[in-house]
Amino acid sequence: MSAKKITVTVNYQKKLADGVYSMWLAVGSMADEAKPGQFISIYSNDSSRLLPRPISICEVDKEFRSIRVVYRVVGEGTKEFSKLKAGARVDIMGPLGNGYTLKSEGRALLIAGGIGIPPMLELAKSLPCEKTIVVGYRDAEVFLADDLENYGQVYIATEDGSVGTKGTVLDAIRKFDLGGDVIYSCGPTPMLKAVKAFASEKNIECQISLEEKMACGIGACLACVCKSKDVDHHTHVHNKRICKDGPVFNAQEVEL
Ligand SMILES: Cc1cc2nc3c(=O)[nH]c(=O)nc-3n(C[C@H](O)[C@H](O)[C@H](O)COP(=O)(O)OP(=O)(O)OC[C@H]3O[C@@H](n4cnc5c(N)ncnc54)[C@H](O)[C@@H]3O)c2cc1C
Ligand code: FES
Repeated sequence: MSAKKITVTVNYQKKLADGVYSMWLAVGSMADEAKPGQFISIYSNDSSRLLPRPISICEVDKEFRSIRVVYRVVGEGTKEFSKLKAGARVDIMGPLGNGYTLKSEGRALLIAGGIGIPPMLELAKSLPCEKTIVVGYRDAEVFLADDLENYGQVYIATEDGSVGTKGTVLDAIRKFDLGGDVIYSCGPTPMLKAVKAFASEKNIECQISLEEKMACGIGACLACVCKSKDVDHHTHVHNKRICKDGPVFNAQEVEL
């Protein structure tokens, strides 16, 4: 079904960690379609900021037809969203992008860092198989780890060593000798590069979500292209539009 722009109501918003917020939106039938790894574009109520901000779907509550997003305040758009109170109205478009391909068999290894962690929650909820989850943070400002613990064994890495393994998610994976039959990942590009190299070293299928900067969010402007191995049917060059063809790709398909 094609994505539509709708006005929705904020159900609830709370701060999870320094600069990180969790917001539930009452989205109606959009909740029936939303899949893990897809995102919504949230519009500013300030007309000087025309472009919507892409934010991953963190959780879906089909019964209450709501979607949860978890985001870090980095600029004016996300700062504005963090001030929205219950009952506020906001325009969104979605669900956008392709989402992860769910495997029902074997063991899944979910690897995420920083603001790449939110899409792992709906993914962990939706995957019927056994899951190991590795999440990386800068410091003790840990978020969503307690939610993720409901769906699998969670390993934490922090850059400053304040919680869990000191270092990166890959340091935790090697320390505990973690593995799986399929890897799902989302996070900053250096982390995704390391995850891609690990997956190829261990010969594990790997799906990564690229959270690059976007403009239109619907495949029309080419602001979000990444280099791909194969020629894109739409542009006829070695490019993929992250918003439309992704944000989830097979790691071997794209150059990071
Ligand atoms: C598919 C997708 C899913 C995303 N999911 C989430 C999510 O679940 N939670 C979350 O917190 N963020 C997520 N992001 C990133 C989020 O879209 C940006 O942080 C947001 O658009 C910034 O808007 P702003 O107006 O606050 O900041 P701006 O004023 O637009 O930018 C402020 C600073 O942030 C940098 N920035 C902007 N966009 C990005 C980006 N995509 N990646 C890295 N740096 C960026 C800018 O270069 C600038 O330095 C996602 C991005 C994509 C493409
Ligand atoms: S953001 Fe416009 S094509 Fe992807």
